[in-house]
Amino acid sequence: PAPGWDVETDIVVVGSGIAGLVAALRCRERGRVLLVTKALLDAGSTRWAQGGIAAALDPADSPAEHLDDTLVAGVGLCDTAAVRTLVTEGPDAVRRLIALGTRFDEEDGEIALTREGGHHRRRIAHAGGDATGAEISRALVAALKQTDVQVIEHALVLDLLTDPDGRAAGVTLHVMGEGQPNGVGAVRARAVVLATGGLGQVFSATTNPEVSTGDGVALALRAGAEVRDLEFVQFHPTVLWLGPDARGRQPLVSEAVRGEGAFLVDGDGTRFMVGRHELAELAPRDVVAKGIMARMRETGADCVYLDGRHFGAAMWERRFPTILAACRHHGIDPVTDLVPVVPAAHYASGGVWTDLHGRTTVPGLYACGEVACTGVHGANRLASNSLLEGLVFAERIAAAVAAGTPDRPGDPVLGDVPGPLPSPEARADIQRVMSAHAGVLRDADGLAAAERALAALPGGGEPGVPAWESANLLTVAAAIVAAARRRTETRGSHWREDHPERDDAAWRGHLTTRLTDAGL
Ligand code: SIN
Repeated sequence: PAPGWDVETDIVVVGSGIAGLVAALRCRERGRVLLVTKALLDAGSTRWAQGGIAAALDPADSPAEHLDDTLVAGVGLCDTAAVRTLVTEGPDAVRRLIALGTRFDEEDGEIALTREGGHHRRRIAHAGGDATGAEISRALVAALKQTDVQVIEHALVLDLLTDPDGRAAGVTLHVMGEGQPNGVGAVRARAVVLATGGLGQVFSATTNPEVSTGDGVALALRAGAEVRDLEFVQFHPTVLWLGPDARGRQPLVSEAVRGEGAFLVDGDGTRFMVGRHELAELAPRDVVAKGIMARMRETGADCVYLDGRHFGAAMWERRFPTILAACRHHGIDPVTDLVPVVPAAHYASGGVWTDLHGRTTVPGLYACGEVACTGVHGANRLASNSLLEGLVFAERIAAAVAAGTPDRPGDPVLGDVPGPLPSPEARADIQRVMSAHAGVLRDADGLAAAERALAALPGGGEPGVPAWESANLLTVAAAIVAAARRRTETRGSHWREDHPERDDAAWRGHLTTRLTDAGL
């Protein structure tokens, strides 16, 4: 849609999780910053993060060991230079987060550290027991409010604006509640930082909030930026099982529960992860998710169980108050009951490709956080590396923006009016198709069926947030299916039942997806 108004700034940051907030706080040292976010400042995925943020903070630990664990989890597809950057800059970045006001849990005057899947050491800092993201979000929002950063809430980003040389020159957005066409406007800027988060709402059951509709990846695909590794959607092994018809955001049961010693058992009480991996329940999460799916198949059960009854009430209350409350809300008491759990869509390991400074392939367009693919996650993200990635690479973007931006915004060329929009109801159909055919288990027939079903979805949507979000979900879903069809092997979180082995000879590389690959 044509913008009805425009504003000018130096740097526009899109998104307000840890990556967007840190990028805004650091970029303001380099120019005027406008932060736009789709709902409220704290409504994204960051505030739901439970387990914590990983960094080699213990004197007995080292960035080299954190690097090793990250590379193993990523199954041969991590970019080692990016991982090295993450793990070496991580500890000081966490200390700067503390200086910005974040209060992590402590033990004997030191930051308390726990374990999660794939980590050979205790290196996960946490806050409020299991409310780490909420505390980080609180502290960063408070810090932002002390600054002159301008904020627009309830604004859905639509598309990238570029100048005649193809350089990013701002974004169009729709401010909700302003109606059509007045709500649609343009922000002209010298640099655009995408920090829009994830795409979990592409699936029926996810740990992601309603706002995680892949807007940044869809915008980047439309803008012609390189997008890679989309087939690697990570399924968290353990969300609370709420029955076969559960839809939308599901209550997470953090890996830290296993990190503190809870077991995974089947309906007979057998610890089925023992013998599948040397770390058993604390294997990398793709291994645990596959182990759970395999056990559910073998037994015909709808779920497996977490057994943390030996923690006792005091430990549940102190260490996992959020999870305890969520379970009790659904009639399960983890102090006395087994907790029914299943895997659910959790994290996009791929996304908009960036270099070590957050630069995408479109000059002036930067990306950080879940929307980005810096190369640190490879085929499967190591637990609690996501908050760290958002933090470390958002800080690096500020320096790159200062070094590489023109003095004033370019004059944007307005793009084509978008084609027909899917109906708002398409959202539920997309989710159903993706969960049925492109979830934890994939094969050629299912993926082909998904491609056909997505292509056949009816149009007829009127311009407005529901249809634009459905359009983004459809673009991202089609791109995931296209990448998943092409990668004919099993690696990390991409599990092809018809190609069950990892194939390093053919597939130790990355897949780049373009809009045309997705048939859009
Ligand atoms: C969790 O607490 O299990 C989630 C941690 C993560 O996704 O990194």
